[in-house]
Amino acid sequence: MKMLNVALPKGRLGEKVYAMFEKAGFECHSIKENNRKLIFENEAVGVRYFWVKPSDVAIYVERGAADIGVAGKDILLEYEPDVYELFDLDIGKCRMAVAAKKDFRDNPNHTLRVATKFSNIAQSYYASKGRDIDIIHLNGSIEIAPILDLSDVIVDIVETGTTLKENDLEVFETIVPISARLIANKSAFKFKGDIIEKIVGSMAAQTEVSK
Ligand code: PRP
Repeated sequence: MKMLNVALPKGRLGEKVYAMFEKAGFECHSIKENNRKLIFENEAVGVRYFWVKPSDVAIYVERGAADIGVAGKDILLEYEPDVYELFDLDIGKCRMAVAAKKDFRDNPNHTLRVATKFSNIAQSYYASKGRDIDIIHLNGSIEIAPILDLSDVIVDIVETGTTLKENDLEVFETIVPISARLIANKSAFKFKGDIIEKIVGSMAAQTEVSK
């Protein structure tokens, strides 16, 4: 039997995603063992799971190391991987937003300094508004940038808003809502289309029920 290779985002979201695959008939009980293994398979149902860093899922899928996977819309917008986006799982919901210190007032005569991990999203957002910006690319703890006057604003993910609140920042604009998406490698979608369609069908039914 052809195995279906699935890249799951490591972490809390990944556990929810695995539960949806399990309900779709692709269980792999060994994945629940408490160990540090990263690859699990169940030959009987023809599935192999990999736990990967959430921001790397799209790379595995684009290059065909995984047939399908689940990635955040933030990553898909930022890196534009050459994959099919099949389905919105309606979980892992958050938004991409512009945030700044509460007393921040934009001065259109100055270049806006934007700190972010999502440089491409920020570039195209401000390009669409015709606003001149200077991108400061950071890899984490973005919220510190405006506090230390490294930047005027940040472009980052906001989920509960707690991180912003605890650092005295607030949302100024929402750029785009984000959620987890099922993605497929383009050639795997040709050769394993039946099985992938079955998964999409089951996930669609599961998200309908939870609405
Ligand atoms: C994101 C984001 C914020 C935080 C927002 O970080 O960069 O720091 O979550 O969540 P909140 O609104 O619920 O407080 P994430 O946990 O994904 O980790 P990282 O940016 O450090 O990789």
